Amino acid sequence: MRKVRCQSSGSCEQVSDICVSLRKATFDDEDRLFMWATDRETRRQSVNQGLITFDDHHQWMMERLCDSHSHVFIARADFDDIGTMMLDSRPNVLSKSSFYNRGMSRHARVSITVAPIHRGRGYAAPMLTALCTKARALHIRTLEAVVKRENGPSLSAFRSCGFWVSYKQNSLWTLDYRLSGRGYPE
Ligand SMILES: CC(C)(COP(=O)(O)OP(=O)(O)OC[C@H]1O[C@@H](n2cnc3c(N)ncnc32)[C@H](O)[C@@H]1OP(=O)(O)O)[C@@H](O)C(=O)NCCC(=O)NCCS
Repeated sequence: MRKVRCQSSGSCEQVSDICVSLRKATFDDEDRLFMWATDRETRRQSVNQGLITFDDHHQWMMERLCDSHSHVFIARADFDDIGTMMLDSRPNVLSKSSFYNRGMSRHARVSITVAPIHRGRGYAAPMLTALCTKARALHIRTLEAVVKRENGPSLSAFRSCGFWVSYKQNSLWTLDYRLSGRGYPE
């Protein structure tokens, strides 16, 4: 298995031979993102499991691509688009359970979806590593993710990039990550 290791100090050390590049999503990605968002496993692992119509998705694209608080990326590796990630710092989406959302500014929620045909190939951690680099460039200091307890691949990927579980509530776990300085709370 190709691996990425990130130090808990917050400085990502890439030891993988998977090279992931990120580009900003555009309206040309609308169909691709719709397919990935409506995939059964993606819906099952989402906090909001409701069905998404294409109209809903179109509205979401219009809002997210034009909002300076959100950054939607397409990840590319091995000559293919392998998935999508978002950094979202809208106050209403940030988790009250996040350790860093209590007082830290420049905080963002991370979401990740690997394209169904590319799952299970070890792409998730290198994607998150690439996202950490983008987040630093955007002057974001801390990250959070909200993951279902039973979502083993997601929890493993976030943990192997240095995210730590800061809060457990029923089936939802909040994970946090500090991009600079120490990875864990002082
Ligand atoms: C979650 C998701 C991004 C993970 O990507 P992936 O390509 O499936 O996973 P990877 O092959 O990169 O493996 C990730 C880790 O999970 C581990 N893993 C794989 N299958 C696993 C399983 N069934 N149970 C537990 N761990 C598993 C891998 O060994 C790897 O661990 P490591 O980083 O410690 O080596 C992807 O499955 C996905 O898009 N799922 C649907 C949407 C989703 O759940 N998004 C996350 C919401 S928070």
